Amino acid sequence: MIETPSFDELLSRLDQLLAPCLAQDWPNLPTERVEGVYIYGRDGRRYLDFLSGFGACNAGHNHPRVVAAAREQMARMVHAPVGVLAHEPLLRLAWELGQITPGAADMFFFGSSGAEAVEGAIKLARYVTGRPAIIGFLGSFHGRTMGVASLTTSKVTYRDGHGPFVPDVHFARFPYPYRSSAPDAEACAEEALEDIERLFEHVVAPRDVAAIILEPIQGEGGYVIPPRSWLRALRAICDEHGILLVFDEVQTGFGRTGEWFAAQALGVEPDVVCLAKGIANGFPLGATAARQELMSQWGAASHGTTYGGNPIACAASLATLQVIREENLMENAKVQGAYMLEVLEELQAETRIIGDVRGIGLMIAAEVVRPGTKEPNTEAVQRIKERALEGGMLFYPCGHWSQTIRLIPPLTIDRAQVDEGMDILRRAVLAEAT
Ligand SMILES: Cc1ncc(COP(=O)(O)O)c(C=O)c1O
Repeated sequence: MIETPSFDELLSRLDQLLAPCLAQDWPNLPTERVEGVYIYGRDGRRYLDFLSGFGACNAGHNHPRVVAAAREQMARMVHAPVGVLAHEPLLRLAWELGQITPGAADMFFFGSSGAEAVEGAIKLARYVTGRPAIIGFLGSFHGRTMGVASLTTSKVTYRDGHGPFVPDVHFARFPYPYRSSAPDAEACAEEALEDIERLFEHVVAPRDVAAIILEPIQGEGGYVIPPRSWLRALRAICDEHGILLVFDEVQTGFGRTGEWFAAQALGVEPDVVCLAKGIANGFPLGATAARQELMSQWGAASHGTTYGGNPIACAASLATLQVIREENLMENAKVQGAYMLEVLEELQAETRIIGDVRGIGLMIAAEVVRPGTKEPNTEAVQRIKERALEGGMLFYPCGHWSQTIRLIPPLTIDRAQVDEGMDILRRAVLAEAT
C-alpha cells in the first residue's frame, strides 16, 4: 500500500524532500492560509506579513478581485503558448503595461519570473546592439539562473561553486552613501562613476558595451537608494555611447516606491525595463519591456518560452493593476511609508544599534550596527527577526551581511496594522539594545 503521510509528517521530512539550496531557509513557517497582510500559521496564530512574499503581493495576499479574475480565467483557459494562441488577457496586459512602464516602453516579452525578465534584457541588449559586454554593479541581485547569476553580486554565496559565468560582464560600484568614505552622497556618486570611467579606460571599450544593468534601488543588496545625479549620469553615459540602460524593477515595481516604478520616483528613463513580482500579485509572471523601435528588432523565434504570458497570470495581473489604481495603493504606500520612517527614526534615537534608516514608499530599511559604530550587526538582526516572529510579525533581512531590517508589507496595510507591526519590531529591537 502506498503511504499517505499527513501534512505534519511531511513537514517533519521537509529536509529530505526539498533541495536545501531552496528550502534551508528561515523560518519555514507551517502555514494554513494567507489573506491581506496576514499569514495564518498552522500553530493557530496570525502573523503580520512585512515581507509580502518577497515583494510579490503588493495588493495583499489573495486579494479577492485578483483571485476572482484568475479563477474566471482558469475556467476558460489554463495554458496558451504565445505565438501559437493569441488570448485577450495577454494583449490587454501588454496594452495596459504600455500605459505605465517607464522609458515609453510599449512592447513586451513575457516570461514567468524575475530572473527570466532580466535574462531577456541581456539577450535583447546583445542581440540588438551586436555588442558583447555588460556592465553591472556590486551589491546587485538579478536572480539565480546562469545569465543573471553572472550579474548578481549581493553575496558571493549566490556565485560560489557555480562558475564560470557568462563572459564579458564587468562591475562598478553602486553608490551606497551610508557605507561610503566619501564626505557626502554626491561625492559618493562621483566615486562610483569613476569606476565606469576606469572600466572604459582599462578594461572594455564603450563601443563594446551592450548594456548597463541595475536595480534603480538595490533590493537584496540592502535597499540602497542612489543619488539621482548618479542615475542621470548613467543615462548620459548610455546616450553618449549608444549603450542600453536597463532597469531591473523586479522588486521596485508596481507601486512599491509610491509610484508605478522607481524610474518615475527617481526621475530617470531607462531603455529596457524588467518586471516581475508585483506584476501579478503572486502569480508567476515576468516581462522584459522596451520601446517598439528597439524590441521589434529582436528577430522572430530568437527567444521564447512555453509558459510566459500564461492566461491565468495575465488575468491576475490585469486585476492587480486595477486594484493598485482603484484602491489608491501608491498613495497609501507613500503615507504609510513616511509614517514608518518616522517611527524608525524615533527608534534610532532610542538605541545605538540602528545606524541608518532609509526608504521610499513602502520600501523601508533600517541598518543594524554594533553600538556606536557602522560595523554590520548580522547576529543582532537574526535575533530581532526571531523575536519579531515570536511577537507575531514576519520580516526578512537584506544587505550584504544580512544586517538590514527590510520592511515591505503589502501596499494595502493600514495605520493600525503598521502600528501593530512596528510595535512588535520596536520591542524586538529594544530587547537587543538593553
Ligand atoms: C531586483 C530583482 N531582480 C530579479 C530577481 C529574481 O526574481 P525571481 O526570483 O522571480 O527569479 C529578484 C528576486 O528577488 C529581484 O529582487
